[in-house]
Formats: sequence, C-alpha cells, structure tokens
Amino acid sequence: MSRMAISVLLLLIVLHLLLVAEGSAQRVALPGCRDRCGNITVPYPFGIGAGCYRDSQGGFQLECHDDSGRSPPRLTVYGYNHRLGALSLASGEARAYLNATRECYDSTGGSVDRDTSSTYMALIGSVYIFSSTKNRLVALGCPNLGYFVDGAGYYVSGCMSVCRPSQNALPGPCTGVGCCQSEIPPGINYFEPYQRNFPPGQNGNSDSAFINNATSCHYVFLVDTEWFNYTNQVFLNRTDNFDVPVVLDWAVRNVGNCSAARLNATDFACRSVRSECFDVTNGPGYRCSCSQGYQGNPYLDDGCTDIDECQLKDACHGVCTNTQGSHTCRCPAGTSGNATRKDGCQSMDRFTLALKKRKLIKAKQSFFEHNGGVILQQQIRSYSDAAGGGGVGFKIFSEEELKKATNNFAADQILGRGGHGIVYRGVLEDKTIVAIKNSKMMEATEAKEFAREMLILSQINHRNIVKLHGCCLEVEVPMLVYEYVSNGTLYHYIHGGEGLDTNKALDTRLQIAAESAEALSYMHSSASPPILHGDVKTANILLDGTLTAEVSDFGAPKLQPSDEAEIATLVQGTCGYLDPEYLMTCQLKDKSDVYSFGVVLLELLTGKKVLCFDGPEEDRSLVSRFTTAVKADQHDQARP
Ligand SMILES: *[C@@H]1O[C@H](CO)[C@@H](O)[C@H](O)[C@H]1NC(C)=O
Ligand SMILES: *[C@@H]1O[C@H](CO)[C@@H](O)[C@H](O)[C@H]1NC(C)=O
Ligand SMILES: *[C@@H]1O[C@H](CO)[C@@H](O)[C@H](O)[C@H]1NC(C)=O
Ligand SMILES: *[C@@H]1O[C@H](CO)[C@@H](O)[C@H](O)[C@H]1NC(C)=O
Ligand SMILES: *[C@@H]1O[C@H](CO)[C@@H](O)[C@H](O)[C@H]1NC(C)=O
Ligand SMILES: *[C@@H]1O[C@H](CO)[C@@H](O)[C@H](O)[C@H]1NC(C)=O
Ligand SMILES: *[C@@H]1O[C@H](CO)[C@@H](O)[C@H](O)[C@H]1NC(C)=O
Ligand SMILES: *[C@@H]1O[C@H](CO)[C@@H](O)[C@H](O)[C@H]1NC(C)=O
Ligand SMILES: *[C@@H]1O[C@H](CO)[C@@H](O)[C@H](O)[C@H]1NC(C)=O
Repeated sequence: MSRMAISVLLLLIVLHLLLVAEGSAQRVALPGCRDRCGNITVPYPFGIGAGCYRDSQGGFQLECHDDSGRSPPRLTVYGYNHRLGALSLASGEARAYLNATRECYDSTGGSVDRDTSSTYMALIGSVYIFSSTKNRLVALGCPNLGYFVDGAGYYVSGCMSVCRPSQNALPGPCTGVGCCQSEIPPGINYFEPYQRNFPPGQNGNSDSAFINNATSCHYVFLVDTEWFNYTNQVFLNRTDNFDVPVVLDWAVRNVGNCSAARLNATDFACRSVRSECFDVTNGPGYRCSCSQGYQGNPYLDDGCTDIDECQLKDACHGVCTNTQGSHTCRCPAGTSGNATRKDGCQSMDRFTLALKKRKLIKAKQSFFEHNGGVILQQQIRSYSDAAGGGGVGFKIFSEEELKKATNNFAADQILGRGGHGIVYRGVLEDKTIVAIKNSKMMEATEAKEFAREMLILSQINHRNIVKLHGCCLEVEVPMLVYEYVSNGTLYHYIHGGEGLDTNKALDTRLQIAAESAEALSYMHSSASPPILHGDVKTANILLDGTLTAEVSDFGAPKLQPSDEAEIATLVQGTCGYLDPEYLMTCQLKDKSDVYSFGVVLLELLTGKKVLCFDGPEEDRSLVSRFTTAVKADQHDQARP
C-alpha cells in the first residue's frame, strides 16, 4: 500500500472514531430507538416505536410517516394525530400545526365554501398544553366574530374584526380592522374554534359601518405569535386553506410536581445523575434539566455529561483545565491577572511594577505620617484659619516636586556637602530658586514636636535669617526647603577668595558681623519661643548678591548618628567653635551661640581658619592662639 493510501486510511479511521465519540457523547434516545424523523430530532422521553417513549401519559409516543415516500416525512403524536414540527428538551416546547377554520361568502352573505373539519385541537389527557404566552387567537377577515371553546364547550377567548372602506390601506398590527387577536389563558388543553358572520342588511343600515368592503373569506385560528406577523397584503384577501404553527408546552404530568414525583423513584423522570427537577408553570407537572456545568438528556440514565468549557469560545483566555461540572482558567506562566477576561492576563513585569508602585505609595504615606505630616497639615490649617484664612507661606512638598526641582537630585545641582547631608539647588514650578537640604539622618523626635518646630521656623521673617519655605515629609528623613542665597557662605568668602586685604573689605566684614549679630539677637530675644542655633560658624552664614549676611540652619532638626561609624559627629556643633562649657555639660544655652559667634568674629578679623593642622600643636586652634596673644598683649599681631 502506498504511503498516501495509508494516510487516507488513517484519516478515515480517525474521522470514524470522532463521529462515534460524538454520537455517544450526545445520546438523545433510548438504545436501539430512532432519534430522528426527517430533520426533526426526537429525544427521550419522546419516542417512536414500542419501548422507546415514556409510557406514563399520552403524548410522548410519536409516529413518523416516511413509509409512503412522502417528502419530508411527517411526525405526528400517536392517538392525537397532530403534526409536530420541532421538539425541545431545553425550552419544554413543541411546535404543532393547526389548520385554520375557514368560511367564505358570496356578495349576498351566503356561505359558499367552508372548511371547519380537523381545525380543532384536543390535548386532553396528554402531556401538552397550549402555551399561553406564545400563542394568541386570531380572527381574520371582516366582519368576523371569532372565538373558541374548551372541552366542556365553554367560551374561552375571542375577538371581533370589522371592516372599513380603506381597510386595504391599513397595514401593520392586527387591531380590529380586518383582523383581531386576543390572548389566551394558561392551562388550556382543548381548542375548538367558532365564528359568526354578519350578512349585509341583516341588522339594518346601522351595521353598514362595519360590513362595507366585507372580505370574502373569514378565518379563526390559534397561532404562534412570533410566526403570525400580520400585514394586510399577506393575509387580508386570502381565500385558500392554510395551516399555522402553535406552540405547545409539554411536561411530565402524571404527577403534579417534583416533590411528589421524587416519592416514586422508579417513575421519576429525571433519571440522570447530575440532573435537576423543576415544577412547570403552565399546568401541573415537572421537567428535568442537567445540573450546571453538564449537558445532554436528563431523562436518560447518565444522560447528563460534563461540559468541556475549555472548548467553548471566550470561556477562557488563559490556561484552561476542564473539571467535572466546571473548569479552571488561569493565566499562563509568567503572567498574572484575570484569565476569564480578554487581555485579562498581564505579563508579570507589568504586574509587579504595579505592585511596586502601590508599595511605594504606601511607604510614602507611612513616612509622611511618621514624620508628623498629618499633624503639620492640621497645624497649618488652624494657623491659617487663625490668620484670617491667609496662607502661612509654608508648604509641604511632595518628593516628586523636589525631584523635579533638582533634576532628580543631580550631582551638578549640589550646593554643598556636609557631614550631615547634602544641600541641592532647586528650581520650583513657579521658578523660585531654593536650597534643598537632604539630611542623612535625624533624631527620632516626636512627630508632633517636629511639626511644631517646622511651623515656628516657618514663621520667622527676618532679613538676616534664611527663610524656611517648606519641607518634604514623605521620605525617610524629612527634606527642608530654604530660600536660596546666591553668593555662598561666609567661610568661602573668607577662605576661598581674595579681597580681604583692602580696607573696603574690612568694612564689609564688619557689616557682615553686625548683620549676623542681628540675626542671633533676634532669635534669642525677640522670637517666641526663643530659638537657639547650636552650630554658629562661618559655613552657616550665607551671603546674598549684595553681600548681606543671612544666617542659616537655625534650629535645624538635631542630628544624631544612625550607626557606630558616625559616633564622632555625636556632639552637636562644629569643632573649633564649641564653647568649653557646652563640651563639658552638653547643655546648649544661648551663651553657647554667643561664644561661637565670637569665634566667627575672630575668623572674620584674622582671616585665619578656626582650626589649622599645619603648625605645632599649640598653634592649631585659632581661639587658643588668640587667647595666648591677648595674654602676651600681642593680639594686634594676629591680623591676616
Ligand atoms: C426541516 O426541513 C424543512 C424543509 O424540508 C424546513 O422547512 C424546516 O425548517 C426544517 N426543520 C428543522 C428543525 O431543521
Ligand atoms: C371598498 O373600498 C374601495 C376602496 O378601497 C372603494 O372604492 C369601494 O367603494 C368600497 N366598496 C364598498 C362596497 O364600500
Ligand atoms: C415579521 O417579523 C420579523 C421579525 O420578527 C420581521 O423581520 C419581519 O419584517 C416581519 N414582517 C414580515 C412580513 O415577515
Ligand atoms: C391581496 O391584495 C393585494 C392588494 O390589495 C394584492 O397585491 C395581493 O396580491 C392580494 N393577495 C392575494 C393572496 O390575493
Ligand atoms: C389541513 O389543510 C390542508 C390543506 O391546507 C389539508 O391538506 C390537510 O388535510 C388538512 N389537515 C387536516 C387535519 O384536515
Ligand atoms: C406537590 O403535589 C402534592 C400532591 O399533589 C401536594 O400535596 C404538594 O403540596 C405539592 N407540593 C408543591 C410544592 O406544590
Ligand atoms: C411507581 O411507579 C411505577 C411506574 O409508574 C408504578 O408501577 C408503581 O405502582 C408506582 N409505585 C407507587 C408506590 O406508587
Ligand atoms: C474575572 O472577570 C470576570 C469577567 O469580567 C468576572 O466575572 C470575575 O468576577 C473576575 N474574577 C475575578 C477573580 O476578579
Ligand atoms: C557674587 O558671586 C558672583 C559669582 O560667584 C560674583 O561674580 C559676584 O561678584 C559676587 N558678588 C559680590 C557682591 O561679591
């Protein structure tokens, strides 16, 4: 055999297996029974032939008339003779056909042709009841009074159709001119139609209003509302016989409801495991359905089979695993999200990024609270309220704002570096130039205390004191935002450049000394509460474009090492400027600032650095050299 032939053979076998598998998975009828009549599926409890249908009540036994070569074959209800067009287990409906009752008249009103045989439909004792929601009674042609009676001969429903001269021009709904319709009640299992004619002249001239242009044929029938799509053009002038579809509700009706049916297990119609029973609403009885996640025929043993949801379109957009009665749907490895949604799975990177972002926001919030942000906000608000709603000129900055202002804390924005942190130059959104102090560490002060200090400092308004604009609290160590002073520090002025030799420079130096003294005096005596500096030195005195002095770093948060390595910086203040008493007691007093200011004055006058490690040991400190000189009455020689 050639390779090709083998391939074809294999393909055929596979196809055959597939077909067999599908057939067994979708079992419809009892084994050995027909499950079709023409193109109509006949599922159990319906059946054709002995032993193939449920035998509890009339109606489930059907007949398929395809023996006489009729095309297509006719499916009828055994014992009732009604023709069926479709059957549904899911909706509990069957479609049957009914011949319309017809009566035709001549111009004098005499009946000339009628067909009223076999236009009734008896369902008594069967599993069927007319659907009250999907059918209606229609009387067609005019003038025509159409109605029907039940098995006991009593009126059930009817309507009156009249004529108008222009009726042929009235298309559309069946509302009483040329055609009328009426609803039917539930529970009806017998239909026998009647009609009354109104011959011309019979009742005098008053009737002429509705017998003008009488149609020659009149009809009455029950019909599927969806199918009866009335227009004058199609129906009004008909004269032929025709049949119409009606919708029947079927159910297992030999027992009134599920709870009663369950009492007799051998008779209970819901045979399959994984099936459920429910009571029907139109008439007595019950029907069965497969449980959620299962499909098939609940009236057969093991008729309900698991639905492979993974084969359903749009059920899962990830990794689908079918389970009994359900399925799982997960995002593929490396992704995460909701796989039941289209594009619901996101690559882990994006997912973790989002997670990181959320964590970052959380951390910011936690820092903000820890650093007293909430308290500070409250204080700013109440302060602002007390000031008559005016702003306090103090702002809480976001980290993002300061990053933007400093070009992400770029190295070329650094103004100065100290043991305790870095000062950056920054440009705020409104173009204000600021100095941003980014400290390495901070004493674990009370959040409340810190907030209070910030607010007090922000209220200091003195031309010789560097203004505090605001702070940023959503970082581990708060960053302080100060006014930018353009011409560097006094330290740099004295030691970094020239211009100290002239007399004019001396004037400037005295001026700077006086201004610095102003600032200290104001903070010690006028501010309430008094504020000590704690680290007065030339590096903390800034000069603006006109060489006006501005003292910076007042009351800046006290710094403390976070680890052993930085223990040397434990002492606040700077070597060379510290007063001996403070060194012994570690108690900062206003006198400590005054002592340090004295050293600044010496530095200004002499132009010498406060500590100089070049010479012999006794010459290293400017203070000791100066006191020695004073004792020797040689202090005027200590000039630069
Ligand atoms: C069966 O076939 C007839 C025509 O032969 C068609 O009108 C009808 O709609 C079909 N019914 C179903 C259920 O396919
Ligand atoms: C029937 O209606 C047509 C117009 O549709 C009208 O011309 C004719 O006179 C009417 N016949 C009677 C008997 O009213
Ligand atoms: C009947 O109803 C259908 C929708 O239900 C509509 O599309 C159709 O135009 C209607 N008329 C006729 C004459 O079929
Ligand atoms: C019904 O009458 C309309 C015009 O009024 C005509 O077009 C149509 O062919 C007629 N239909 C039948 C079945 O006679
Ligand atoms: C219904 O009417 C059709 C003609 O339209 C006819 O062939 C058929 O025999 C009638 N059915 C019954 C049950 O009378
Ligand atoms: C079910 O039917 C039984 C017997 O007809 C009746 O006693 C019972 O009340 C019904 N139960 C429900 C829930 O309708
Ligand atoms: C249960 O149903 C079966 C079949 O319909 C019937 O033969 C039997 O008598 C019923 N048993 C009872 C206790 O009603
Ligand atoms: C996933 O998405 C579907 C459809 O939008 C929704 O019904 C379901 O609750 C979602 N599942 C989870 C765990 O969010
Ligand atoms: C301020 O500094 C700039 C550059 O650093 C310098 O050119 C200018 O002369 C200084 N102004 C004064 C008054 O010293």
